[in-house]
Amino acid sequence: MYKILFVCLGNICRSPMAEYVFKDIVTRKGKEKNFYISSAATSTEEIGNDMHYGTKEQLIEHNIPFKKHKARQLKKEDYSKYDYIIWMENSNIIRIKAIVGKDEKNKIYKLLDFTENREDIIDPWYSGNFKRTYNEILKGCEALYNYLIKE
Ligand code: 4NP
Repeated sequence: MYKILFVCLGNICRSPMAEYVFKDIVTRKGKEKNFYISSAATSTEEIGNDMHYGTKEQLIEHNIPFKKHKARQLKKEDYSKYDYIIWMENSNIIRIKAIVGKDEKNKIYKLLDFTENREDIIDPWYSGNFKRTYNEILKGCEALYNYLIKE
């Protein structure tokens, strides 16, 4: 069983999108029993809030099932609970380490580091470009899945 936690700044745009895109990939592969997948924020700004409508629109457009979301903040205990903590852009990692401490077990990775371009997934909360975010997250999630099944 792989336990994967996707993390972004607010947990209303990118990390829940990655959570549901990744859940959809593993479900379509019939591997849902092998994965526990969730998401969290580094900040407290959006705690308790549902996903941004721009994220929901992309999930609906691509027939990806999702449930009512409640944003939550990353906790120190998440480091021992999860096998992989996957973040979106360079500014996330400073905040993640401030919460969980040192990455002694090499669990913390940037999503697009599993792809060839290794860029940040810029924040659609500011850019408004949720389509681009979806395309990047899909590429990252497919690459992460392929990495994990080869492990
Ligand atoms: P996310 O986007 O990190 O992809 O969920 C954001 C959502 C909310 C805020 C910033 C980014 N905010 O400042 O409230």
